[in-house]
Amino acid sequence: MLVPMRAILDAADKNGYAQGAFNVNAVCQVKAAVDVHQILRSPAIIQGADLANGFMGGRTDFANSTLEDKKAGAKNIGAAVKKYAADSDIPVALHLDHGKNFDSCIAAIEGGYTSVMIDGSSLPFDENVELTREVVKYAHERGVTVEGELGVLAGVEDHVFAATSTYTNPLSAIDFFKKTGVDALAISYGTMHGANKGKNAVIRKEIAIAIKECMLHEGIEGYLVSHGSSTVPQYIVEEINALGGEITNAYGIDVDQLVEVSHCGINKINVDTDLRLAVTRNMKELFAKDAALRNSASVGQIYELLETKKSAFDPRAFITPIMDTIMYGNVPDDDVARICTCI
Ligand code: G3H
Ligand code: 13P
Ligand code: NA
Ligand code: ZN
Repeated sequence: MLVPMRAILDAADKNGYAQGAFNVNAVCQVKAAVDVHQILRSPAIIQGADLANGFMGGRTDFANSTLEDKKAGAKNIGAAVKKYAADSDIPVALHLDHGKNFDSCIAAIEGGYTSVMIDGSSLPFDENVELTREVVKYAHERGVTVEGELGVLAGVEDHVFAATSTYTNPLSAIDFFKKTGVDALAISYGTMHGANKGKNAVIRKEIAIAIKECMLHEGIEGYLVSHGSSTVPQYIVEEINALGGEITNAYGIDVDQLVEVSHCGINKINVDTDLRLAVTRNMKELFAKDAALRNSASVGQIYELLETKKSAFDPRAFITPIMDTIMYGNVPDDDVARICTCI
């Protein structure tokens, strides 16, 4: 069943675990995402990032997505999640990841998202508070959960690169919760987005512990979120490269550290990169095994893109030739169906 994200985080906190939250970049990933959680008897948080909404609205050059593109995408993924969540008997939330502005959040909510992130982390504190408050007011009136962000993660975010992190200040975090009324807060504590987190990335778990301690002391009922938490499995990177890929310097967060932070006040763990890597590996493997597929009229172009963009692993770089399938789920032939099993 479709639920607000808050319900899933309440259960995680009550039972002492962190819930994984997984990004999809194409509507055709939704069924698989719900099915896997159903098999594992786990609640599910499915995330679409702001620009991913644009892509799912049919914008192939998604970095240039307009509000109209995002609205269309939110509607497409919203309908799919509603359908598959209703067919399941697990709680499922659809969450907007890194919403850029108020309009992005409204577009998501109108499309059927049950939770939104408003990422004002690049703004000065007071402006971040003001923007987040506005979103909280609008969303809470509609039963929608809100996640905010405080602090800056190193690495690539919104296609902008930050060389170093600015860790979240625990006292500012408390102030932010009080002033905005957000349900959840993304913190900066040593993780970073993308596949290049460094060979021995260390999470500063004491930052999460300090914030959570202060929250408990102040009676704040909110949750902390760990972004940039992909583990970047080395065997997947090696398999991509063995199939002709050129993914370099790719390292993630050690899974033991994620287990540890789940006992240090973190209740939600965001993963996008790992799924992108897996999709890329799966597609390369399928094409490598099947010459007819490489020459297929409907998906041969995907193979060419995979061969040309050797260092890419964002599925959106490859799957534009089957845009219709991605958005609306119409699968015109067996070759497209086989690619969909990879995505
Ligand atoms: O952190 C969020 C996502 O991984 C970024 O996704 O490439 O759609 O902006 P995007
Ligand atoms: P990764 O790039 O580590 O998968 O992080 C994803 C994320 O934080 C989405 O919000
Ligand atoms: Na941010
Ligand atoms: Zn993130």
